[in-house]
Amino acid sequence: LLLDLVLTGGGYLVGSIATAILVARALGLGDPRLSGSGNPGATNLLRIGGKKAAALTLAGDLSKGAIPIVVARLLGLHDWALAAVALATFLGHLYPVFFGFRGGKGVATALGILLALKPALGGLILGVWMLVFALTRVSSLAALLAALSAVPFAFVLSSGTSLRALIIVLVLLVLWRHRSNIRRLLDSSESPFKKR
Ligand code: G3P
Repeated sequence: LLLDLVLTGGGYLVGSIATAILVARALGLGDPRLSGSGNPGATNLLRIGGKKAAALTLAGDLSKGAIPIVVARLLGLHDWALAAVALATFLGHLYPVFFGFRGGKGVATALGILLALKPALGGLILGVWMLVFALTRVSSLAALLAALSAVPFAFVLSSGTSLRALIIVLVLLVLWRHRSNIRRLLDSSESPFKKR
C-alpha cells in the first residue's frame, strides 16, 4: 500500500508539470493561460506559437501521461492501484500544484495514460480524434467525440472494471473542462484551424 501511495503521489507531481507553460516560457510566448483560448495545451500552443511549440507540448503531455503508468506497472501495480496512479496523473495536469492549480483540459495527458494502459484502446481513441479533426479542423470537437467514443470502446475491448471506471471518470472530467468549448460549439462560435 505504501508503494501504491508513493506512486499515486508521484503521478500527481508528474502530471503537474505543465508542459505548455514551460514550452511557452522557453520560446518566449508568455503564459498560454493569458492568450488564445487561455488553455495550457498543445492546441492553444499551435494557436499562439505554431507547430514546433504544439509538437513539443503534445510530446511532453503524452509522455507525462504514460511514464507514471509504465513505472507503476514495472513496480508491480495493477488494476485499481494502476487506475489510481492514472487518475492522480490526470488530476495533476488539470490542477497542477506547481502552477497555481490552473492547468489544462487533459486530452493529451489522458491519451498518454490510455496508450500506456491499453494501447489498442488508446489507438482507437487517437483514430477518432484524428478523423474528426481532419474533417472539421476543430480540436475541441475532436477531443469531445474521441472522449465519448472511449466509453463504448472500453466495453467492446473487454477492459477490466478498474479501467472502465477510470475511463468514465476521465471522460466526465474532460467534458467538464471543455464546458466553455461546448458552449461555443453549440452557438457555432468555436473557430476551426485553417486547412493546410
Ligand atoms: O485539448 C484541448 C482542446 O480540446 C481544446 O483546446 O485551446 O481550443 O480550448 P482549446
